[in-house]
Amino acid sequence: MGNRGKMDMSKWGNTYREIWEKAEWAAIATSGDGQPHVVGAWGDDLRRLTPSLDETIVVPAGRFHKTEENLIRSSRIEVLLASRQVRGTRSPGQGCSLIGTGEVQTSGQYAELARTKFPWARGALVIRIESAKLHL
Ligand SMILES: Cc1cc2nc3c(=O)[nH]c(=O)nc-3n(C[C@H](O)[C@H](O)[C@H](O)COP(=O)(O)O)c2cc1C
Repeated sequence: MGNRGKMDMSKWGNTYREIWEKAEWAAIATSGDGQPHVVGAWGDDLRRLTPSLDETIVVPAGRFHKTEENLIRSSRIEVLLASRQVRGTRSPGQGCSLIGTGEVQTSGQYAELARTKFPWARGALVIRIESAKLHL
């Protein structure tokens, strides 16, 4: 943990936690029709629904329609987060990929939570993380 490469999912290293706390935004990638598709999420919005990094992260779904369609066909998803404020191996700045499966839910506890905190949300993008890696 804290090193580059695959992580031990039993506990998050401090570097992952720090990136989660400091990232200003995230890129979330899915694929469909052989095409990559990337959407964004603000870091503070992520932290409002998932205050400390966990194996399940929840993103408010305002639109995410193409993302939802892609996930129905293939649930694979990757989230990229980074911050200059986290020390990297060689220089200031560190980022990580969180890799796993995702689903847009419009009912249930996560959708309710998202709508409570974000009145514009139609539901929640729920991501289950299976592996993670540091980039720098
Ligand atoms: C920094 C940033 C944050 C965003 N946050 C959200 C968000 O929390 N929820 C959301 O539905 N769309 C968000 N968007 C818009 C999405 O990237 C996307 O354009 C929109 O949801 C349509 O998704 P789709 O292409 O999967 O249909 C954000 C975009 C950026 C650049």
